[in-house]
Amino acid sequence: MERNTVVTGDTLTVLRTLPDEVFAVGVTSPPYNKGERHKGWLVGNVLYDKATDRKTEKAYQEEQIEVLNEVFRTTRPGGSFFYNHKIRWDRGVLLHPYEWVAKTRWVLRQEIIWHRGIAANIRGWRFWQVEERIYWLYKPRYDNDLIGPELPSRHALLTSLWQFRPDDDPRHPNPFPIELPTRCIASILDGKLGFVLDPYAGIGTTLVVAKLLGCDYFGIELSPEYAKMAEERVANAYSEKARVAQELDLHRVELTFKERKANGLSKPPSRRKIAPSQRLIP
Ligand SMILES: C[S@@+](CC[C@H](N)C(=O)[O-])C[C@H]1O[C@@H](n2cnc3c(N)ncnc32)[C@H](O)[C@@H]1O
Repeated sequence: MERNTVVTGDTLTVLRTLPDEVFAVGVTSPPYNKGERHKGWLVGNVLYDKATDRKTEKAYQEEQIEVLNEVFRTTRPGGSFFYNHKIRWDRGVLLHPYEWVAKTRWVLRQEIIWHRGIAANIRGWRFWQVEERIYWLYKPRYDNDLIGPELPSRHALLTSLWQFRPDDDPRHPNPFPIELPTRCIASILDGKLGFVLDPYAGIGTTLVVAKLLGCDYFGIELSPEYAKMAEERVANAYSEKARVAQELDLHRVELTFKERKANGLSKPPSRRKIAPSQRLIP
């Protein structure tokens, strides 16, 4: 397989052609299977170039399970995958991503709340939904490795509530704010290099972060137009360095958990002093 490319095609079809155990970390947000039918009161229908977002819920969930299992196969033992999704309702019935994430081969390390600070639907059927979920999925290194290695304090301190405003970008209906994949990749790689995957790459936000961190990347995207934009963005990754650097700057603490415990300090650590282990490429 060729590294540092964005392949245009259907993700499941492309994933099936990839070798086993190559990726260290991945981040993605799939289509949510609701955009074309349900329009929000604040935002218009989410319409992608090429992809249809109108499957039966059963077919959609089965496909997502297959995609996640293919990502599992292509991920190295000890690797992680961050899967962004959200709670949806279909005619009053709640659909929770946990329903299908739990049926995959992954160990579910954590459900992170992404506080977006903005709701798509402002009717009062429910409290305005301003959050989405990010599932931190982990591939065990050996049988029963259900806990995995400890996350260094400088990343764990960022908590399970992530607050990022969505990006408003005329090129794509819903790209990641670049801080989001930065947080995922930097926390897992912790300054090391690794091969990064985004199987629904859109306009390449995850891939830009990978490049800025000096990592190889691989993206899959159905729309040739988005794939082309992703390639162009990666080629100009330097122009997006400032926001990535700002996010990396948050990944530091004065004293690690272990150092605090050794010193008998009970208060939670504050952010300071220890230089971030992540370095952007010069
Ligand atoms: C939520 S967007 C991802 C946006 C991306 N995180 C970014 O920052 O640009 C989902 C993307 O999946 C693509 N897509 C939908 N179905 C696909 C499929 N079967 N295979 C590959 N890509 C697909 C859509 O075209 C869309 O760009």
